[in-house]
Amino acid sequence: MVETAQQENSMGQLDIRPIAGALGAEIHGIDLSQELDDETIAEVRQALLDHLVIFFRGQDITPARHLDFARRFGEIVEYPLVKGLEGYPEIMTVVKLEHEKVNFGGLWHSDTTYLEQPPLGSILLARELPPFGGDTLFANMYLAYETLSDGMKALLGPLKGVSTSNLQRVSDTRSERMKDAAKVTPREVLTATHPVVRTHPETNRKALYVNGAHTCRFDGMTEEESAPLLAYLYAHQTRPEFTCRFRWEPGSIAFWDNRCTQHNPINDYHGHKRVMHRITIAGDTPE
Ligand code: OGA
Ligand code: MN
Repeated sequence: MVETAQQENSMGQLDIRPIAGALGAEIHGIDLSQELDDETIAEVRQALLDHLVIFFRGQDITPARHLDFARRFGEIVEYPLVKGLEGYPEIMTVVKLEHEKVNFGGLWHSDTTYLEQPPLGSILLARELPPFGGDTLFANMYLAYETLSDGMKALLGPLKGVSTSNLQRVSDTRSERMKDAAKVTPREVLTATHPVVRTHPETNRKALYVNGAHTCRFDGMTEEESAPLLAYLYAHQTRPEFTCRFRWEPGSIAFWDNRCTQHNPINDYHGHKRVMHRITIAGDTPE
């Protein structure tokens, strides 16, 4: 049996409803179009730490309010590869158009681990949705670590993983957006080396920190040598019982902690449009 990560909400004002055993909770009883007091923000932050990804519904807020809310959790960072929304460079649009076949980030990943300081998290707001499909999966990387054997934990403990921005399988998912709004030349490659097991800076819990979109090898080893163990970890870390699945509605928001989760937007709505607005919060150096 896998232990669940959900915890009781002890503080009180927010109505927090877990959506799965592993991670994820909807937060009701909050209106993000209004300025929020520090206490409420602290409760939201605690809910994020407890549930790893939190969801809000019916929050059809303006880009300016979306930004104000995000700024309460840290400094905003722009996505390194694709330009932002007209007039709001800090807001990135995550779009799939009717005629397109690939969706942005359409595989299991943690965001931009090829940076020295990958984000704390992102706040993604649904603007336009397909009539069906386009759900997003999330996975709990604390559980992925905790369910490994003591032998595997000991093996992984000292290892570092190298992340790169140019693995073909993820570059393919960015191709449509890079056509019109690339910030870097496609050949520019970003790489960073991080611990395979990181300790979350706020919860002090250990999380498995490799991902199939960006990690290309273990530091000090070749790609060929690394591939079998990485393949095992990629399969293990996305076991269904470590995941939750979020069904979007216009005005839904997902706020994920990128330090201890991965996500995977499902590409099952060809012929329909999906438009999301994303704001990303700066993180620290993984340790
Ligand atoms: C992202 C991403 C998820 C989605 O914005 O980082 O992976 O549901 N998108 O579109
Ligand atoms: Mn992503």
